[in-house]
Amino acid sequence: QTVANDPKNIRVKLVLLGDSGVGKSCIVLRFVRGQFDPTSKVTVGASFLSQTIALQDSTTVKFEIWDTAGQERYAALAPLYYRGAAVAVVVYDITSPDSFLKAQYWVKELQKHGSPDIVMALVGNKADLHENRKVSAQDAMEYAEKNGMFFIETSAKTADNINQLFEGTGIYLY
Ligand code: GTP
Ligand code: MG
Repeated sequence: QTVANDPKNIRVKLVLLGDSGVGKSCIVLRFVRGQFDPTSKVTVGASFLSQTIALQDSTTVKFEIWDTAGQERYAALAPLYYRGAAVAVVVYDITSPDSFLKAQYWVKELQKHGSPDIVMALVGNKADLHENRKVSAQDAMEYAEKNGMFFIETSAKTADNINQLFEGTGIYLY
């Protein structure tokens, strides 16, 4: 549900989901503060941050970002954060097949219980660790296509594709 009282200034509720350790908080920190924290702590419950970007046609998009906790013990809280979200960013780590399976679990849950018009992005993070890659970009892209998702590989460490991720979801919204 994009809140668009002024079509040039869009407010978007965005939620990040994915296994613990895939880099959700680092992606948000990179996007909002331009920083990377190699000692990032696991998220407890969820954390909230916001960031406004300008798209090419001078539309501004204010992202209200819910960064959820990936640890299993917090899984039951997720609906509190994805309910009413216009965008869901489902993150896995390209070096971890388990995290890719977990991403697929979140996609199914969003298809069942998320808003019917939710924009979903599938994000393969830690792209800087490509020499240790275990999830092929081709497989992930095919999965994303089949599920009507926007797909991108990112690195919170090098900043590669982080802005493109958020801009990409912004473009899908209007
Ligand atoms: P939870 O809060 O438990 O759900 O985990 P999270 O998904 O928020 O993971 P977090 O952002 O805290 O990152 C976990 C670890 O991965 C940290 O040690 C980060 O430094 C590292 N990390 C995150 N993004 C990247 C990346 O793009 N490249 C590399 N090499 N490491 C990363
Ligand atoms: Mg976190």
